[in-house]
Amino acid sequence: MTTQFVRMNRRQLVLGAGGLLSSLYFSNRALSAAGSRVVELTASETKVDLVRPGTPTNVWAFNNAVPGPEIRIRRGERLRVRVKNELREETTVHWHGIRLPNSMDGVPHLTQQPIKSGEEFEYSFACPDAGTYWYHPHQRSFEQVGRGLYGPLIVEDHERLDVDREITWVLGDWRLLNDASISNDFGHLHDVTHAGRIGNTVTVNGLVTDSVPVRAGERIHFRLINAATARIFGLDFENHSPLIIALDGHAVEPHSPENKLVVLGPGMRVDVLLDFSGEAGTKYRVVDRYYRGREYRLLEFAYSSGQSVKPRSGSTRLASTILPEPDLTLASRHEIVLDGGMMSGMQSAIVDDEELDVRALIRKRLFWAINGVAATSHVHKPMVTLKHGQSCVLKIINKSGWPHPMHLHGHAFRLLSRNGQPTKYREWLDTVLLAAREQVEIAFVADNLGDWMFHCHVLEHDVGGMKGVIRVA
Ligand code: C2O
Ligand code: CU
Repeated sequence: MTTQFVRMNRRQLVLGAGGLLSSLYFSNRALSAAGSRVVELTASETKVDLVRPGTPTNVWAFNNAVPGPEIRIRRGERLRVRVKNELREETTVHWHGIRLPNSMDGVPHLTQQPIKSGEEFEYSFACPDAGTYWYHPHQRSFEQVGRGLYGPLIVEDHERLDVDREITWVLGDWRLLNDASISNDFGHLHDVTHAGRIGNTVTVNGLVTDSVPVRAGERIHFRLINAATARIFGLDFENHSPLIIALDGHAVEPHSPENKLVVLGPGMRVDVLLDFSGEAGTKYRVVDRYYRGREYRLLEFAYSSGQSVKPRSGSTRLASTILPEPDLTLASRHEIVLDGGMMSGMQSAIVDDEELDVRALIRKRLFWAINGVAATSHVHKPMVTLKHGQSCVLKIINKSGWPHPMHLHGHAFRLLSRNGQPTKYREWLDTVLLAAREQVEIAFVADNLGDWMFHCHVLEHDVGGMKGVIRVA
């Protein structure tokens, strides 16, 4: 195995009884955490090698690593995490995609007081659904996530797929200067008003990766997580046929991606099964083709010249998560209009109950609105209130000329349609990527009490006003 794989495995952190693969992942640190059953996550400034070994970059990270430790737990088990804040500013941790009690959701001022510098907070919640999740701060997330504060959270099911290996890829995107330091222009006006902070250096598990060793014949379950603040990925696994088996952690009917590209907007996860059907000794690229004219090689798979392994033919289907099915005939219906950004016709927006024109909005660095409201902080009135237990359909209309990955906290929703066309798989998601001027319909049962964020996961759009609260009461 290459150093890269060693690096990756050392970061693995296994909790609970542990699955078949756990023995591969155990490290001393992981064992001690499993023994006490409380995970310690310390956020601090540190240095890590992002670009190449021996060229450190100052980052903000959990437990001195980017990504932070991979937390693994069994479905139904309780996760306890003590977060220590050694940053010079306040923070929180949000458990993206987990259906947890509102008080554990990690949204500053809305669900908890921010964790002050030098203080700590203990999160404790059960993880009801198996799947691929992740954690990251929700305080000034455009900068805190952008500087490296994020990590994978894997909820294991009681049964496993018949695969040779499971590999998590946390995709990160950085804007680095020539000396490998992070460009300090977080919240730059151009990024906030356009596609967000798209960087110049993409990392896989915190390192620019050249090649990943594989064996002919093996079947690998990849857990892909997009932790970038703005970059959308469209991965082309050249000469291979990726099978999508889960989206945002939730099982979906196994299918090949449209146009052969595995697309992940910020915040999104895709689980992919890949059969390595190539010949021993060959190499194949994984190319990110999302942005036309800016394609690049993410890495390559290098088949070992050794013996091939016997191909697997077991089921490719993950067990479905058990989620309440929304009743579309009785559902309450709401429209959610996204607007703003460069070249939009947005003339004004409501800010803290006051209507402001474009000039006043620019002074406040607000450029985006949901239903006419540009949100300044995490304290604001709900834009929609749903009755506890009620089914609802949200029609989300993107009036802007930019794509937006819209994320709802505390629930999973079915994606019913895009531009009026029913979706083929009615997938469960927690983040839906809307193309420019696209409309989608989502449906869910509002079964989780509390105030939940609904926001764009392009974190520069989020800070630029594109967020709101959905109240379940
Ligand atoms: Cu991944 Cu509100 O966030
Ligand atoms: Cu957006």
